[in-house]
Amino acid sequence: MSDIHFSRMVNNIQPGIFGALNEKKEERLKNGEKVYNLSVGTPDFPPAPHVMKAMQEACADPENYKYSLADLPELLQAVQYRYEKRFGVQLETDEIMSVYGSQEAMAHIGMVLCDPGDTILVPNPGYPMFEMSGIMAGARIEYYTIREENGYLPDLEGIPEEVLKRTRYMIVSYPLNPVCVCAPDEFYVRLIDFARKNHIVILHDNAYSDIIFTRKQGRSFLSFEGAKDVGVEFYSLSKSYNLTGARISFVVGNKEIVSKFRLLRSQIDYGIFYPVQLAAIAAMTGPDDFIEAQREQYAARNRALCGGLRSIGWNVPDSQGTMFVWAKIPDGFDSSMDFCLKLMEKTGVIVTPGSAFGSEGEGYVRMALVVDEDMIKEIIGVLDESGIFR
Ligand SMILES: Cc1ncc(COP(=O)(O)O)c(C=O)c1O
Repeated sequence: MSDIHFSRMVNNIQPGIFGALNEKKEERLKNGEKVYNLSVGTPDFPPAPHVMKAMQEACADPENYKYSLADLPELLQAVQYRYEKRFGVQLETDEIMSVYGSQEAMAHIGMVLCDPGDTILVPNPGYPMFEMSGIMAGARIEYYTIREENGYLPDLEGIPEEVLKRTRYMIVSYPLNPVCVCAPDEFYVRLIDFARKNHIVILHDNAYSDIIFTRKQGRSFLSFEGAKDVGVEFYSLSKSYNLTGARISFVVGNKEIVSKFRLLRSQIDYGIFYPVQLAAIAAMTGPDDFIEAQREQYAARNRALCGGLRSIGWNVPDSQGTMFVWAKIPDGFDSSMDFCLKLMEKTGVIVTPGSAFGSEGEGYVRMALVVDEDMIKEIIGVLDESGIFR
């Protein structure tokens, strides 16, 4: 049938810009040439053994294949325990709900907070799902520009009054994928004040709270006074616990938002698979020294990659956090995509063009810290030999 009607919403979704990169990658692999993939955001570290054991044992029990319908009380207690231990934040059980990953939660929460035509504020550059959250709810997207010279922080005072009046929520996330910076504590104090004054909900995506290089530990948005009055935090187990495929994260904070979001999701899903809930409990209540060891490894990779690139003539700043590095492309290339294609052609190294994260990402690339230090050294050698930075 050629006359199928598709919604404006789905027609608004831009296909990924990875097609051209993928084609070139396949070509190289077919020719037996090496590929170094620094474009993916999936950790190469395994989950902790006690987490996999909990999942395996739960999978052996046929009772665990039924609809779970709700979060186990032990799961909510595990989040309470983790938030208190890790962030010093006390949560009530009605301030916590599980989701199938922050990505899924972001996709649906717009329907709870916006009517079609309302406005949401998202960063440019920013993680692509942020704007999708509004698009899926039929909302209008306003971008707040974040630039290197301002530490990639929003200019809250510079957002026009007219935009503030129609804005329902603002998405904020530090350390931020893709720009890899953290926000100072005083920023969150100003943000909460701004949200209260303008009646704007804050959605804080805290996916990288355990991968920070400048300070030992990241904080929770909820650890700032008044945060629960104005918003919620997305707390993902994907990166801290290497559970990306298990699909479990949490929305925590303002209980009215949690309650309405639960209501919406009761129409969408029948609860998280029990073995995944049990693995999450094991993760959040079990030993957590591997998280610090892992952070050290990401930090060592960060130093090896950024320092190595600087030593061969590409002036890349150290990442402050996340599992990525954000770099301005060298002179002599038309665009970040042009640089990515030439880099792949000449060296087999795949990085993500900054333009995938919004117009303000043009001129930059993102590299994932998903290979070990030995491989990073090999990559630096290959790049140096190619002469691409000379
Ligand atoms: C900023 C950010 N938020 C959320 C996610 C997805 O998290 P989850 O696996 O919980 O959906 C990612 C994954 O790369 C991310 O970079």
